[in-house]
This record gives sequence, C-alpha cells and structure tokens, in this order.
Amino acid sequence: MRGLAGKRVLISGGSSGIGAATARRFLEEGARVVLGGLDQAEVDRTVGELSTLSALSGPSGPAEVTGLAGDVSAESGAAALVDGAIAALGGIDVLVNNAGTAWREPFLEITPAHWDRIISVNLRGMFLVAQATARHMVERGAGGVILNMSSTNGLGGEADYAHYNASKGGVLLLTKTMAVELGRHGIRVNALCPGYIKTPLNAQISEGLADDFVSGYESGHIPLGRAGLAEEVAAGYAFLASDDASFVHGTELVIDGGQLAIM
Ligand SMILES: NC(=O)c1ccc[n+]([C@@H]2O[C@H](COP(=O)([O-])OP(=O)(O)OC[C@H]3O[C@@H](n4cnc5c(N)ncnc54)[C@H](O)[C@@H]3O)[C@@H](O)[C@H]2O)c1
Repeated sequence: MRGLAGKRVLISGGSSGIGAATARRFLEEGARVVLGGLDQAEVDRTVGELSTLSALSGPSGPAEVTGLAGDVSAESGAAALVDGAIAALGGIDVLVNNAGTAWREPFLEITPAHWDRIISVNLRGMFLVAQATARHMVERGAGGVILNMSSTNGLGGEADYAHYNASKGGVLLLTKTMAVELGRHGIRVNALCPGYIKTPLNAQISEGLADDFVSGYESGHIPLGRAGLAEEVAAGYAFLASDDASFVHGTELVIDGGQLAIM
C-alpha cells in the first residue's frame, strides 16, 4: 500500500480482534503504532505478541508498537489515549477509531443503562477520540486520516441489536459531517462497514447459539458462504489510510462477503 511506511498510527480497540489484526498490518507496512484497549492485561499481551514478531521488523529495526489502556467513553480516557499517542509517536498521522462493544438483546427488553453503555462506547467514545485527534491534526496543519468503525448494522436494522445498530448508524453520519468540516484541513475521514467477522467479540455473542445456527447464518446470509477474517477488515483500513485512497472521503467501505447485496 502506498504511503504507509513511517506513518504514526493510533488504533483504538487495537488489543483484540480487528484492531489487533490492523495493528499487525500497519506494522507490516512499516508504520509506527500505538494501540489502545479497555483491559491493561490484554493491551500488554497484544503489544508483547506484536513486538516479538521478527517478521514485522523493517529496515529501520524491530516493529515499533506500544499500548495504552483506558475507557474511550470517558473524556479522561479518550484524552489520555490521544495525548499518550502524541507523546509516544511525536504526533498522529492516522487514527483508526475502532473501539466498540456489542451484545444481543430484543428491543423490548433493552434497559436505559444498556442503551447508554452501547451508545457511550460506540458513539460517544468514537466522537471523543476523533475530536481530540482532529484538533491535534488541525493545529499541526499537516492533514491526516481518520477512519471510524461502523458496521453493516449501521446500514440495516438487524433484530436484537437496536442499541448497536443506532450507535453504528450514528457513526456513519458523524463520519460524513467530519468529512464535510475537516476536508479543507486536508484530513480525510471515512468509515468501514464490516459484516460478520470472526473475532473474540462475535465468539462471545455466539456463545450459547448452536453450531448449526452459526453455519446456517453464514451459508444463508452471506453470498461468499463464510464469516470474514479480521485481516480482511485490516486490509480495508490499510487501503483507506494509504495514498491509494487519496480522493476517497466522506464515505464508507463495506466489507461483508456480499451480505448487503441480498434483497
Ligand atoms: N466482529 C464483527 O463482526 C464486526 C462487524 C462490524 C463492526 N465491528 C466493529 O469492529 C470493532 C472491533 O470489534 P471486534 O469484533 O474486533 O471486537 P473485539 O472485542 O475483539 O475488540 C474490541 C476492542 O475494543 C476495545 N474496547 C471495547 N470497549 C472499549 C472501551 N470502552 N474503551 C476502550 N476500548 C474498548 C477492546 O478492548 C478491544 O480492543 C468494533 O467497533 C465493532 O463494533 C465488528
């Protein structure tokens, strides 16, 4: 991918699943990475795994990756993540705004507390990290790239995910508005909409569901007949962050094995 070597990249929610695969992909491209996550032990484990992968070492030495734990839904957590990344890397060129959470729950049973938690991590947290990073990028005056994680659930209403769907739909309009306001500063802003991807989050959601429900879902709802891999979403982030996407702005990239193509 053109233009990623040497880039300073902050990945929120980089300690697991799609975010961890994205950290690895950016390191392979020669970028320098700070990854965030909710759980300190998970952050430390992922940083440890990535830094010992000799395959990630570039001409300038071993892979450069560090981690910061904190809750992005809190102003203090989001600010600490962005300030920590600026301190560690000397600035942020690319934000992969990826942290998120989900669980299934029928609309009629969602409590206000559950509604607030999903919206607060997936939408408020995304806003807080994006705004702090964008302020830094505008002040620096050298442009940048911000990629917000939405979902196919931001484009259609899957049952039992009203809070999650609302949060991811909100991310899409947050992304478009940021693109409208930040384009003149040379900051490109886009969203990703993955479909069903094999990650620890989905493994947790699928716990208790019969194996044939999951395989039936994959064959019945996804034209490619399988779940996606975290690496396949990481490739989308890498493309959107690269110079190959220099005129892609204010839109979303769907990575779903054809799921949304079904009528
Ligand atoms: N797995 C899928 O099928 C799928 C599909 C579409 C979109 N997504 C989105 O992709 C993103 C990553 O999901 P994943 O499947 O890799 O999940 P995951 O559970 O493997 O990883 C989630 C990451 O977000 C972090 N995180 C969660 N809550 C946080 C908080 N309050 N503060 C800071 N960090 C927090 C976790 O520590 C972890 O690093 C999420 O935004 C999710 O909504 C996932």
